[in-house]
Amino acid sequence: MPEDTVDKPNTVTCTAPVNIAVIKYWGKRDEELILPINSSLSVTLHQDQLKTTTTVASSRSFQEDRIWLNGKEEDINHPRLQSCLREIRRLARKRRSDGDPSVDATTLSHKVHICSVNNFPTAAGLASSAAGFACLVYTLARVFGVEGELSGIARQGSGSACRSMYGGFVQWIMGQRDDGKDSLAQQVEPETHWPELRVLVLVASAERKPVGSTSGMQTSVQTSCLLKHRAESVVPGRMEQMIEAVHEKDFSTFAELTMKDSNQFHATCLDTYPPIFYLNSVSRQVISLVHQYNRHYGETRVAYTFDAGPNAVIYTLQEHVAEFIQVVQHFFPPETNGGQFIKGLPVRPAVVSQELKQAIGLEPMPKGISYIISTKAGPGPRVVEDPDQHLLGSDGLPKRDI
Ligand code: DP6
Repeated sequence: MPEDTVDKPNTVTCTAPVNIAVIKYWGKRDEELILPINSSLSVTLHQDQLKTTTTVASSRSFQEDRIWLNGKEEDINHPRLQSCLREIRRLARKRRSDGDPSVDATTLSHKVHICSVNNFPTAAGLASSAAGFACLVYTLARVFGVEGELSGIARQGSGSACRSMYGGFVQWIMGQRDDGKDSLAQQVEPETHWPELRVLVLVASAERKPVGSTSGMQTSVQTSCLLKHRAESVVPGRMEQMIEAVHEKDFSTFAELTMKDSNQFHATCLDTYPPIFYLNSVSRQVISLVHQYNRHYGETRVAYTFDAGPNAVIYTLQEHVAEFIQVVQHFFPPETNGGQFIKGLPVRPAVVSQELKQAIGLEPMPKGISYIISTKAGPGPRVVEDPDQHLLGSDGLPKRDI
């Protein structure tokens, strides 16, 4: 090997998607291993609109593991980060001792530098931890030459991250074992299965930072008997129905289950003591708007779901997107001098009839929604082959424009 390449870091860059649950995960039976009290199901969103990009470099010359998130160096000793690093290294060592030649013995002893960025503003309030941990685990696995099932490791970074390890429609099977080995994500259908399905993220003008999901669900497990009922008696049946609706591309069943499950999740938040409120007046206006819209047409054309914050995520079919967005713009008039209101996939202009506006009959809330991201289901994590896209330079430090 020529002298100047000896210390050149081994660098890999990957991207990973955000996912939005239609059957929610809320509550752990094991905090350390991140094992849930119920199974959940989500749609992986397309990375053209929302993704995390992570570069991992390993080198003999690195003194310690380091991490930079969105341009700022963070503490590598974060327990969940340490779990992911430890588990990937453990798996690599095991593969090596099992005789897998793709695991490079020298890399195993090297320290890593990690650099990660999102292509969407953190202020958008979208749970970035799912895409972030999925991307970290996927990229680390490439650096250490580990292949195969990785969702069990991503799960230990953030529960919902295990579902971002696959594209399309993904279930996280809760599992029964105490060691968590059967608590894994599994693809239900690929992203190509239902091409007409569309996703609209309605970014509400945030008022304040809500309670984080980790501590929120902990309080819910401790205090809400509704959550216990939900996990034991409601979710198992809903999972079956939802999987069937996805297989059959049955939008009205998919949509109704999605809304009911979001509502029940927020009901468990209200049943938590002290109660947790994630929905605000904008969220409630979106809920009314969706129900009035569906009622006007006498069929379920649009569904909403909300995570641990006020942003609505809308599921609908391509044929209804243009009109529904126009309806949203009418009832949430955007700032006229502000930036673009609709980002992502192009949306054709549409006219909303007077009759429909009257049927919805809500008082407009100016500037309640900052912008809409228009997207669809997309693939799982990917390797970025172009070395120009690495976030770390050949010195192993973040490039200047990160
Ligand atoms: C409301 O995965 O963020 O988005 O496992 O503690 O990291 P931790 O929680 P997290 O919780 C997500 C909760 C949710 C519902 C869901 O995505 O299923």
